[in-house]
Amino acid sequence: MTGFGLLAIDLAVAVLTAGSWLAGSVIAGGLLAGPSSPTRGRLVLGLAIAGVLGVAGQAVLGGRLATHDWSFAQEKLLFALPLSAVAALVAVAVAGRPLVAAVRGHRSALRPIVPTVLVGAAAAGVAGILARMLVGYPLGIVPAVSLLALTVLATWLSYAQFAQLGRRLVSGIAALTALVLVASVGLSWFGSVAVPGALAETHAHGPATHGPAAPAPAESAGVSVEELRTPEDAPGAVQRFELTAQQQSITLASGANVSAWTYGSMPGPEIRVTQGDLVEVELRNRDIDAGVTIHWHGYDVPNGEDGVAGVTQDAVLPGEAFTYRFVADETGTYWYHTHQVSSDGVKRGLFGTLVVLPTDGIAENLDVTAPLRTLGGSVILGESDRAEALDVPAGESVRLRLVNTDQVPHRFRLDGVAFTVVAADGRDLAGPKPVAGKALRVPAGGRLDVSFEVPDSGVLLTTDASSRASLALSPGGKVVPRSDSAVGDLDLLDYGARGAVASLTGPNRVEAKMVLDRDPRFLHGLPAYGYTVNGEVYPHIPSIEVDEGDVVRLTVANRGWETHPMHVHGHHVLVVSRDGIRSTGSPLWLDTFDVQPGEVWVVEVTADNPGIWMDHCHNLEHAAEGMMMALAYRGVTSPFEEGGLHGNRAE
Ligand code: C2O
Ligand code: CU
Repeated sequence: MTGFGLLAIDLAVAVLTAGSWLAGSVIAGGLLAGPSSPTRGRLVLGLAIAGVLGVAGQAVLGGRLATHDWSFAQEKLLFALPLSAVAALVAVAVAGRPLVAAVRGHRSALRPIVPTVLVGAAAAGVAGILARMLVGYPLGIVPAVSLLALTVLATWLSYAQFAQLGRRLVSGIAALTALVLVASVGLSWFGSVAVPGALAETHAHGPATHGPAAPAPAESAGVSVEELRTPEDAPGAVQRFELTAQQQSITLASGANVSAWTYGSMPGPEIRVTQGDLVEVELRNRDIDAGVTIHWHGYDVPNGEDGVAGVTQDAVLPGEAFTYRFVADETGTYWYHTHQVSSDGVKRGLFGTLVVLPTDGIAENLDVTAPLRTLGGSVILGESDRAEALDVPAGESVRLRLVNTDQVPHRFRLDGVAFTVVAADGRDLAGPKPVAGKALRVPAGGRLDVSFEVPDSGVLLTTDASSRASLALSPGGKVVPRSDSAVGDLDLLDYGARGAVASLTGPNRVEAKMVLDRDPRFLHGLPAYGYTVNGEVYPHIPSIEVDEGDVVRLTVANRGWETHPMHVHGHHVLVVSRDGIRSTGSPLWLDTFDVQPGEVWVVEVTADNPGIWMDHCHNLEHAAEGMMMALAYRGVTSPFEEGGLHGNRAE
């Protein structure tokens, strides 16, 4: 079974188990006060047996989850299950005989302790559910002890009620319970407003000190991100661009009007250069009060050019400017977008595409870039929100660059032709073969380049984002009918030829883990249903710390119910496996990979680009709600800060 299926069933079983105990305790409490009833006695007995079976079922499921990934099972096997098992044993030992007697009609056999132990088992079950839903992975000592204390207190409270021990004791226990609750919530709030450990250390207070203190190489000690910029004398033919961020009212092809934020057009001007060029982009901000930056998504620029407000630069406010410079040393399809409150800025339109051509050009004659974006209520494919057609002669070879700039994954579909996926996230694939009848699922932020020859009957590009926006490439620009047949997704993990790269090598290997989930947390001091990594939200998630040259083996496990397109700045990762199944196709170098619910990805990355790099979910709202952290090179510091005079917001 899939990890997601196991997680869902385990939760359902946990809820049903706690429910059985609770219903049993309520009915038993009624029996205590009311007339004897063998039927109700039988019911309680049945519910208790269901409770015991539920606990046994959770043990089996916990074991299965642990083989999937330990992070899926930790709080269950180390906390919820032992607690429930002990409570169930006590319940059976204490309530078993009296309940059997009650079934035979001996009401006098019931004492207050009988419903109490059933409440205890229910409380243990609820504590286990809270450990799953509120605490997540990793379950630390403090929350475990609080949940244990609450379980004991709830049980004691119910005993005081059943045994009618008097009001004062009951209120006393209730007050104590409330105290434990308030103390645990307060502790967590305090942690969320205290100076964050993870990033604060990189802010000019000297080298970070997390983890085993490996001595930082002398030459990298105390390098500021401001020094990690493209050198003045960098080689390459200079290609200058000017982008002015502005509020703009856009009239789409359909006539729809959208008030957008743009870099001058919708999408922003395409930056198209040739490998080896020195790209210089001057960003000006006309009237975006929240500030803007440009992040070169997927392009492994020097850290100081990465465009993350509050980490690599200050947000560019109205009237201000910032010039980005980088050598276009990698070919392929990329995009750029603001990295200052990007969950808002990108959604409103602050994005564009970046294409770097090989010096000897591409194999195809026609080169079309098709970024997809949902803007307001409209979906724009390329530059239009309706069905467009290009007049392309039969036999023409085409490269189509698919870019998903949305927050969620989208399926792109090509009807009428067998196509070859030649590149993913800007990197060429090895030994790709033509495919037909498959959809291309592109993660939020991801890109795929496809190549094909236009047949007489033409080709139609559609997406699952809209039934209106589409692109036909056909002789005379004639209409190409959309086919309704369902198609499966192409899996890139076994597409293309493996070739030589098996795994990365380096003198020092580092293991890192990211466990994705959703838990209630304090975000900037306010309660929120945050998107967590390793149980924390930004900026409290400890950075992955590396030295230059390290090879990081990163395991990303998704315990949650939503897909998380994980994006690593400044580096491409090599996919090793997904759910334990190794990648057997072309080596897959991605900068954005979709971790679906219950999935476990293992990827490797070589630390070859010093800096402080954001590493986050590209569903930008998830990033804004906590799912963001850093891959930080030891010894690199940043003088920039979250907030401050520029109102920097790194997400
Ligand atoms: Cu495309 Cu940190 O983002
Ligand atoms: Cu996400």
